[in-house]
Amino acid sequence: LGPETARLVASRVLDVPDFPQPGVLFKDLMPLFADAKVFRDVVDGIVAYHGRDGFDVVVGIEARGFVVAAAVAYAAGVGVVPVRKAGKLPRPAHSISYALEYGEATLEVHEDAFTAGHRVLVVDDVLATGGTAEATLDLVERAGGTVSGFTVLLELGFLGGRERLAPRPVHALLTV
Ligand code: PRP
Repeated sequence: LGPETARLVASRVLDVPDFPQPGVLFKDLMPLFADAKVFRDVVDGIVAYHGRDGFDVVVGIEARGFVVAAAVAYAAGVGVVPVRKAGKLPRPAHSISYALEYGEATLEVHEDAFTAGHRVLVVDDVLATGGTAEATLDLVERAGGTVSGFTVLLELGFLGGRERLAPRPVHALLTV
């Protein structure tokens, strides 16, 4: 996806100082979700980039990743698997704890979430330090899925998430 898509994303990101903690500049993508045309263009762009037949299921990361994942899955005609924060899933689940940009977190996915050999496209709104993405990609593989791609709407390049995930490829619509 080219500079036009990056401009679209940039036009719908709000910078929120000191959220959720003093000193953190929060990137709020809710204006993008709320703009029908931009949201549609972004979702269609992600599907086109990975190919409508390039993945069998989409993983979304709680909570804002769910918004993107469900739309991408619907547009591509596949299903969604949620990766959730600790204690939310009702059945046996794999679990990974990791360090966040601020604090610590645990992510989980149902043990039976993936069909063997299914190609999994992982999507999220923002890539910051990469801890959330790294934990999610590890969870998908532990649960028997094959990661075929990872896309975020916004990459905070200065936090090194891409390097942390290397050699796994990261696709970002906009990098700042
Ligand atoms: C944000 C964002 C990513 C993650 C990126 O989620 O949506 O999932 O942080 O940070 P990282 O690359 O440093 O791991 P958050 O934990 O704020 O959850 P939310 O979507 O439920 O608000």
